[in-house]
Amino acid sequence: MSNALFIFFRRLRSLRQRLKIAFHIFLKRGAELLHLLEVERQRGTERQYLAEILHQHQEVAVTRQHEADVLRRASENNPTCRIFSAALYDVVLGKHVAIHAGTVLSKVNIADFSFIARESTVRNADIGKYCSIGPSVQIGLDPHPTRVIVSTHPAFYSNDNLGCVTTFRENKIFDDSVPKTVLANDIWIGTNVIIPGGIHIGTGAIIAAGSVVVKDVPPYAVVGGNPAKIIRYRFSEKQIKQLIESEWWDWPIEKIRQHIEEFSDIEKFRGGVTS
Ligand SMILES: CC(C)(COP(=O)(O)OP(=O)(O)OC[C@H]1O[C@@H](n2cnc3c(N)ncnc32)[C@H](O)[C@@H]1OP(=O)(O)O)[C@@H](O)C(=O)NCCC(=O)NCCS
Repeated sequence: MSNALFIFFRRLRSLRQRLKIAFHIFLKRGAELLHLLEVERQRGTERQYLAEILHQHQEVAVTRQHEADVLRRASENNPTCRIFSAALYDVVLGKHVAIHAGTVLSKVNIADFSFIARESTVRNADIGKYCSIGPSVQIGLDPHPTRVIVSTHPAFYSNDNLGCVTTFRENKIFDDSVPKTVLANDIWIGTNVIIPGGIHIGTGAIIAAGSVVVKDVPPYAVVGGNPAKIIRYRFSEKQIKQLIESEWWDWPIEKIRQHIEEFSDIEKFRGGVTS
């Protein structure tokens, strides 16, 4: 055997030996190595997951901060009102208005003395004076198409719907804005009432708890059920006429105080006529 061939075989043998040793180590510590690799992979996924969570939290924190600022300003600018931890977007408050915790309001005008109890959502609405809105009431729901357009899913009618990640449209072919709801004065809305929107509720009306209101409600009617129907009227026709003509909800506070006893019984109510 030539010298060069001898050296080659010797190196080959040592390489085989090294491979053998490496293989041996791998066999002995393979499971451990695989475990370490898995731990690293999981750490990587966890890091990515944590980064995503952190990002979301930052966004939520920014929104919360913004909401807190709006809330603080609303309270400062409306010292006669009592506003708990509610979210207010584009809201105009009258005097002596109360908004309770967890309530979300968007594009809402609320006149003097009205209140909205906890966990309610009101969107695109004008609310008159002395209205009592109960807890968990939903006013102003997003409409989806129910006629002509084949699917009710926003991908088929809108290019900017927040609920829709991927759309098939480059334009909007259905108006999905929330229709305006108008509440007159001295209206009482019970717990869990739903008003999809676009309707008018007359002064003095009562909406029974759990009702779904889809049609206009006349003044001083008590309505209930799903869909809400008239149960009765609160007062006689003559008394309702007198109340509406009095427009007592626009009286100055002093005048209300002066006539307060008349408010305790409709038979005593004289609509501000003093003689
Ligand atoms: C409507 C309500 C005010 C009662 O009014 P009322 O005139 O005293 O009514 P009555 O209890 O005499 O019942 C009259 C009719 O209305 C019906 N009714 C009462 N509450 C109803 C409701 N929530 N939904 C549907 N129908 C209702 C009754 O079954 C009864 O029907 P009938 O005449 O066929 O028997 C009351 O049931 C209600 O819903 N209160 C809301 C309480 C609330 O949510 N408070 C939140 C704090 S702001």
